Amino acid sequence: MNTHSMLAEARKQTDRLFDLVIPDALYDRPIPERHRVIFYLGHLEAFDWNLLRPHMPNVEAFHPGYDRLFAFGIDPVDGGLPADVPSDWPSADEIRAYNRRVRETLDDAEHDSRLLHMALEHRLMHAETLAYMLHQLPFDRKHAEAQAAVPGVHAAKAETIEVPPGCATLGLPRNGDFGWDNEFEAHQVEVAGFAIDRYKVTNGDYLRFVEAGGYLNQGFWSGAAWQWKTEHNIGHPVFWQRAGGEWRWRTMFDRIPLPPDWPVYVSHAEASAYARWAGGRLPTEAEWHRAAYGNPEDRELQFPWGDEAPGPQHGYFDSSRWDPAPVNAFPAGRSAFGADGLLANGWEWTASPFTPFHGFHPHPSYRGYSAGFFDGQHYVLKGGSTRTAACMLRRSFRNWFQPHYQYVYAGFRCARGV
Ligand code: AVJ
Ligand code: FE
Repeated sequence: MNTHSMLAEARKQTDRLFDLVIPDALYDRPIPERHRVIFYLGHLEAFDWNLLRPHMPNVEAFHPGYDRLFAFGIDPVDGGLPADVPSDWPSADEIRAYNRRVRETLDDAEHDSRLLHMALEHRLMHAETLAYMLHQLPFDRKHAEAQAAVPGVHAAKAETIEVPPGCATLGLPRNGDFGWDNEFEAHQVEVAGFAIDRYKVTNGDYLRFVEAGGYLNQGFWSGAAWQWKTEHNIGHPVFWQRAGGEWRWRTMFDRIPLPPDWPVYVSHAEASAYARWAGGRLPTEAEWHRAAYGNPEDRELQFPWGDEAPGPQHGYFDSSRWDPAPVNAFPAGRSAFGADGLLANGWEWTASPFTPFHGFHPHPSYRGYSAGFFDGQHYVLKGGSTRTAACMLRRSFRNWFQPHYQYVYAGFRCARGV
């Protein structure tokens, strides 16, 4: 599929996401740090317009107020929360009229293929972050969609694998495939030998930490994490609920008994506390690469299982499901060193703060994509979730969030020195 038809498909996908929301709830703010849902309805088209329109001769802005209003939507890092009220925003009909005109005008012209790809992946990333956001919306504020049952597998047993010392290639060479600014340049990192979990940490594993008083023992938490946890009175993952003495998991449209073999979704702070309790730590970005793409012959692969493009046997991704599968459901995705389920079915937090690679420079058409986040307050995630588009399962793709952000479809696995 070419970028044009991929963009058309992505538009249908994001249109469907907004249609899940009951009209009234478009003005809700399901995640306190984020914009109201209504912002994103305008943001996707305003972004495409602001990116592509400057390269279109003789096309003037027709609604500069919306171009600005919907331009940026990033969470504050100072813990401050947005204070806008629903009546600050235009009606959904007005925004949809703007969106139609943006699409028609853009679709009448030819565009630079890299800029078009940027618009495509920007939209696909928002399709994913919108899913996190709609997940937090109460069930009666969205229309339920039928979901296929998750296949049962034998219970996952925690195991550790060893990765010998060697080289990991991070990043992407310039002048090849599309990549975001933070993926450049390609470079090699020497990685010492280490051990790492075969599977992502499951809800069942994490429950033992909770039951052992993990949230009550300051020794497992960094100072900032302890303060955050205490201030917000956090005692369990945001996807868990306690009802009648039982733990439940809140799926997109339902409440179910805690699925012990699904990956736990937690913030970086919670993941780090668990790892310390378990006598380990989070892997660095380079270690994660080595576990995923390294092999005994030191010929690095495109994907953990080899050079074959991702398929349904490798994991849940590309919005094939709302909720994840058991961590051991995809043996076909095993890496050469023996780690399972590295791509898809949930992002994985790393110990590495989000920093630029050597040779980084911001993309001139979108200078703020990464550069505003090299502040030591964001950590790199690798892998992908059930809602990550296939094209972003590439080796060099880097995701990042703040350590106290609990809403991402993200878990972790533990590493240890040897
Ligand atoms: C790369 C997913 C962290 O959603 O905050 C969307 C992507 N940047 N619009 C985010 C992004 C601007 C970004 N993440
Ligand atoms: Fe955006």
